Amino acid sequence: MTEHENNAKERLRIYVTGSCDGLPEVLQALQAHDELEIIGSAEMIQEAAAALAGGHLDAILHATRGPDYPAGELASMREYTRAPVILVASGDCSGLLEEALEDGVADLIPLPQLTENIVFAIRKVCHQGRRAQGGDGSRGRVITVFSPKGGVGKTVVSTNLAVTLCKMGKSTLLLDLDLQFGDAAIMLGLQPDKTIYDLVVAPGELDSEKLAGYTLAHQSGLDVLPAPLQPEDAELVTEGKLARLLEVARGPYDAIVVDTSPFFHGPMLATLDRTDDLLLLCGLDVPTIKNVRLSLQTLELLSFPSERVGVVLNRANTNVGIQRAEVERALETKIRADLPSDRAVPLGVNRGKPVSLNDPGADFSKAIVDLAKGLMAETSGKKKKDAGKKSLLSRRRS
Ligand SMILES: Nc1ncnc2c1ncn2[C@@H]1O[C@H](COP(=O)(O)OP(=O)(O)OP(=O)(O)O)[C@@H](O)[C@H]1O
Ligand SMILES: [Mg+2]
Repeated sequence: MTEHENNAKERLRIYVTGSCDGLPEVLQALQAHDELEIIGSAEMIQEAAAALAGGHLDAILHATRGPDYPAGELASMREYTRAPVILVASGDCSGLLEEALEDGVADLIPLPQLTENIVFAIRKVCHQGRRAQGGDGSRGRVITVFSPKGGVGKTVVSTNLAVTLCKMGKSTLLLDLDLQFGDAAIMLGLQPDKTIYDLVVAPGELDSEKLAGYTLAHQSGLDVLPAPLQPEDAELVTEGKLARLLEVARGPYDAIVVDTSPFFHGPMLATLDRTDDLLLLCGLDVPTIKNVRLSLQTLELLSFPSERVGVVLNRANTNVGIQRAEVERALETKIRADLPSDRAVPLGVNRGKPVSLNDPGADFSKAIVDLAKGLMAETSGKKKKDAGKKSLLSRRRS
């Protein structure tokens, strides 16, 4: 099955807000529909903040009672998400249409209505939304490599994964989001003359042409957007700038690999909202396992789809008194991939030559190839997830 066909089978992720007459029946019918995944529902927008911001929604169904247009509610929703909004309205809603369309509402459905009509409208809106984002299979995949601990191997994994994807013929961008102390460029033997900082402070709207003017070309064919040269410049890389950057990068690139710092800061949260695969790196030591467990809990609070998280065990073959199975038990999740400890890794790091390029026969390089193949074969088809919990993003905003 092609990735496109697989994507088409994905259930549409919908959140329901507001209230109107007949909504409970509509909600019940939609929950039973196998093409839809109702992530959650909340009468008040504020209650839904977490899921709206981090829930990877395809559309929001907002219920209202005519004849007044719910301008304030929709404005506050826009603070959390750009997902398309479908208005379902009870009572006299004849006067709502014009204002709704002017306000960017994707569709207006007067109730009562046959469930199939509502589902049809949702499908239409979601399809248009995905197309508008280039989501017809042509969008680049955002692969974020994260670990709550330093030194676990995020930069080693992200650099080697990125060059491996390139070798597989995927046009790839490596984005160094370890904004204060990023060392992805150095591990690739590059000396940056421009960085993500220069890109975000440059005047004018960011588009793919502008992005191309700020990336560094690595000999492997990989494009790299390095971290700022000065730690104090990190704060200018705001959530908004980063969100735009990722959206733009998805056009020209098949894959965007993001290296990170060990924190859930604003730019990381903006990245999570656009992440297709989150590789959560773990090691065979108790503090890292404890913090990876906490990270999994935080991701759940953020309504991040759990199916997009893959725990990767680095230095999996090290004999340090903890077994792989114990890690799985402690994390209550399966490990998605194992990466061996390999002397070729630090050799590559110190020479600025990633092991995947320089020594493709090394055990680590082979494991990275398996990981890369798995990522590219997979689709973003994801399953049920509970929602409505408080997110870091909304906490920061409140
Ligand atoms: N599988 C491995 N085998 C051998 N050495 C490894 C392996 N993975 C990582 N290392 C070593 O561990 C060191 C730390 O890795 P890395 O810099 O990628 O960690 P990090 O998570 O990015 O750290 P930070 O949070 O400080 O950025 C590297 O210099 C590398 O040599
Ligand atoms: Mg690092």
